[in-house]
Amino acid sequence: MTAPVPLGNFDWEPASWRRRAAAHQPEWPVPADLDTVTDELRRMPPLVFAGEARSLRESLAAVSKGEGFLLHAGDCAESFAEFTADNIRDKLKVILQMSVVLTYSTGVPTVKVGRIAGQFAKPRSSPIEKRDGQELPSYFGDIVNDFAFDAIARRPDPQRMLRGYNQAAATLNLLRAFTKGGFADLNRVHQWNLEFIASRREGRRYEEVADGIERALNFMAACGIDLAHETQLHAVDFYTSHEALILAFEEALTRRDSLTGDWYDCSAHLLWIGDRTRQIDGAHVEFLSGVQNPIGVKLGPDATPDDAVALCRRLDPAREAGRLVLVSRMGADNVAERLPPLLRAVTRAGHPVVWACDPMHGNTYAHESGYKTRHFDAVMHEVEQFFLACRAADVWPGAVHVELTGDDVTECLGGGDDVRGEQLENKYETRCDPRLNARQSLDLAFRLAELVRR
Ligand code: PEP
Ligand code: CO
Repeated sequence: MTAPVPLGNFDWEPASWRRRAAAHQPEWPVPADLDTVTDELRRMPPLVFAGEARSLRESLAAVSKGEGFLLHAGDCAESFAEFTADNIRDKLKVILQMSVVLTYSTGVPTVKVGRIAGQFAKPRSSPIEKRDGQELPSYFGDIVNDFAFDAIARRPDPQRMLRGYNQAAATLNLLRAFTKGGFADLNRVHQWNLEFIASRREGRRYEEVADGIERALNFMAACGIDLAHETQLHAVDFYTSHEALILAFEEALTRRDSLTGDWYDCSAHLLWIGDRTRQIDGAHVEFLSGVQNPIGVKLGPDATPDDAVALCRRLDPAREAGRLVLVSRMGADNVAERLPPLLRAVTRAGHPVVWACDPMHGNTYAHESGYKTRHFDAVMHEVEQFFLACRAADVWPGAVHVELTGDDVTECLGGGDDVRGEQLENKYETRCDPRLNARQSLDLAFRLAELVRR
């Protein structure tokens, strides 16, 4: 008789990733400075709690069964400079608006996860950036170095991790206040409409949804239902996430849960592995295999069915619903060819994952003006192709993963405002990838709702 294949990774520990090749790690000029910072982070309180990560796993388990939809959205890269209460509030407003549109039109709950409160680190295609003959380290996100193109600014500085930790803590504090303290109350559904979209087509469509909700609430109250005591109407669960890129930072925030004895990465509720760091024997997969948070993995056009199944085995050996979110980011024209084999292979292997569509990262290109952009039509096309592929494979298209902001930026082309190439320079503020503005995001939500319903 052959011995059973062991489930899980028995020599895992928070530092076991150090025995593997870790792609996309900064070269810290003075390694001892990194140790000083991580020692300090190790003594800091956790940003999130294990029980919250477990609640998210439960909600995602429902999504994997087709009983919910995951909206995963936020900045490509948060920055230290744009850290204001208004920014956080407006991003939350758009995500709440999108989730209300989705829930109202589809009848299934929307699980809300932000790319927020810690989305600071970026993998880059080249470690070096050249401008006018000068070569400097690329910008790796505010938690590593500064955006400005000069030698001092671009030097990786581990002290930035402490600033990142503190900004994440303050952001979470505000998010908790907004989502639990009355702002996210369904009675305020009208007030989430952002001023600059209220008079536009998406804004008016949103008002109709908000009116419908108000009528439903009034109806229930008239029937004698005591709405004041229905807590679900007055608060929402909002979860945080980021790409777990800088492993020294993630390791320092990893704690053993006193209740279960399991390890959790307490820097966010959900962590994901990027398309560039999902090597099966690599450090990122090793690190996340041992923490019990829900985990995302991005799968680009190069991902093979064997890659997908190997990642599932490694990250979800016990085949647990709610553990894994596989994020397809193929590029609109690759979905029909590349995604179906992955869907089939993972289904055959028996992993109850959530399938998500990231329609952003495979559709980025350089506009002739020099700005990196994405066209709203390509984004929509990728989402539609994703739904078609999932439906044909009898898989629930359970999630979207998008980069957006609550502001009226001009970073992506097309959509409600029909942003044109020559307008990109008007309000192009992202530190990294182009984001949907509030109007484009709401437009996406309405179209998504139609797709989910169909
Ligand atoms: C991102 O989500 O910002 C990102 C870098 O994505 P990907 O790993 O899919 O390229
Ligand atoms: Co991005």
